[in-house]
Amino acid sequence: MLKEIEDIKAKYPDSRGALLPALYIAQKELGWLSLDAIKAVADALNLPEADIRGTASFYSMFRLKPAGRNLIQLCTNVSCMISGAESLQDLLNDRYGLLAGGTTGDGRFSLVIMECIGACGTAPAMLVNTDFHENLNGHNIAEILEKYK
Ligand code: FES
Repeated sequence: MLKEIEDIKAKYPDSRGALLPALYIAQKELGWLSLDAIKAVADALNLPEADIRGTASFYSMFRLKPAGRNLIQLCTNVSCMISGAESLQDLLNDRYGLLAGGTTGDGRFSLVIMECIGACGTAPAMLVNTDFHENLNGHNIAEILEKYK
């Protein structure tokens, strides 16, 4: 992870420019950004820990608490809600015991409810980690999630 952050840092004239990619690398490697991870990023970029924590806490894509191996970001905003997102949320609860903001007992999934992920025309939609899934329904969401162990 530190080698990857060093490589990214070398591409920017100022190490602050590498902050977001460095946090992304750390989270990808560790699953979430612990205080130790934030310190490691701060040391690697020669920046104050407060700057790293402030940036990490600003963006919703960074996790500051332990999370499941796979992060589901389900949109329940208007287009998705009209197209059945709430029943998908119920399905996630019924099938996986997964509540908004929660993690499955086996650590396989965490669920975050999103306001809009830019797929209103192909709603309902969700992200699983960095993978985009659209036109969801009660059948294909279960098939999709089976691919994530
Ligand atoms: S409302 Fe769900 S993607 Fe826009």
